[in-house]
Amino acid sequence: MKVCIVYESKYGNGKKCAEYLQSIIKAKGYDVDSFSIREIKPNLLPEADFYIFSSPTHIGSIPWKMRRFLKKIKPKSEAKYALMTTCISLDTKVIQKMEEILNKKGMIKISEIKIKVKGMKGPLEEKYKEKLDAFVEEIFI
Ligand SMILES: Cc1cc2nc3c(=O)[nH]c(=O)nc-3n(C[C@H](O)[C@H](O)[C@H](O)COP(=O)(O)O)c2cc1C
Repeated sequence: MKVCIVYESKYGNGKKCAEYLQSIIKAKGYDVDSFSIREIKPNLLPEADFYIFSSPTHIGSIPWKMRRFLKKIKPKSEAKYALMTTCISLDTKVIQKMEEILNKKGMIKISEIKIKVKGMKGPLEEKYKEKLDAFVEEIFI
């Protein structure tokens, strides 16, 4: 199974989570790539069986760059996905907003996770690795 992690990260916290996710998914024996939306065009996103999309929370919602990127991707229909956001407050609409865009494409949501940051620029909450371990265990049994 091919896994593709796609993230936006302004200060590097989401990037750190994406890198950790990639390492633990790879250790489980999956073929996994990771891309920042700043380094790949949406139409060139590789085909995958499972996507993980990660975005920071900005003003309670999804940053415009991530929204624009997700609207432009053309994954194969019925590709599965999971969502991640980094946020200061758990009261975030990012997951819901990303889900609305992706479900319209016929994709199937499997899971979601919110990772807290302690301030605008981080750092990540202490238990972020444990939370990501559990997230991956739940998805890739
Ligand atoms: C313009 C801006 C608006 C933000 N608004 C919120 C917000 O409404 N709620 C929240 O929980 N965090 C908010 N944050 C903090 C982000 O959640 C935090 O910067 C992000 O999770 C860090 O991840 P990154 O290092 O991957 O960018 C905001 C950050 C920025 C830059």
